[in-house]
Amino acid sequence: MQKIAIVMGSTSDMPVMQDAIDILKEFGIKVDVDIVSAHRTPEKLFEFGKNAHKNGYSAIIAGAGGAAHLPGMVASLTPLPVIGVPVKSSNSIDGWDSILSILQMPGGVPVATVALNGAKNAGILAAQIIGASDTSVLDKIIAYKEGMKAKVIDAAKSVSSTQ
Ligand code: RP5
Repeated sequence: MQKIAIVMGSTSDMPVMQDAIDILKEFGIKVDVDIVSAHRTPEKLFEFGKNAHKNGYSAIIAGAGGAAHLPGMVASLTPLPVIGVPVKSSNSIDGWDSILSILQMPGGVPVATVALNGAKNAGILAAQIIGASDTSVLDKIIAYKEGMKAKVIDAAKSVSSTQ
């Protein structure tokens, strides 16, 4: 069974990162969650990044805020796809510092960066990576998207019927 690693720089990132955990669980995908700080626990970061592909993960979701070096440093250490979640943390000026620290990676070291606090999309993207080679997950993603479409169509009907 394929699984996803979710790491974040601090326990203070958890309220945002919980969205990734929740959606992956909804898709029935196993997640391992850990706190790995690029600045406070650099040895742990190195250990995690070097070994993630040997530990059976299909992709890594990494969230951090402010001077958000965790996703990029994980990407520098692993051959796995890394999805970065910029967090609007207490030490972030306005969110842009988190976004740009994760987004502006040099050529050769990609981080698939989602929106500010966009952990839900990070989870969906990770599920889609698994779904490319696992039809049971792919079917759940198709059903999820169909469900979204139906909700929007229903909402539009109720809006137009009240006008
Ligand atoms: C970053 O600094 C963490 O990812 C978090 O977003 C931010 C603040 O961390 P704490 O001071 O709350 O632990 O490294």
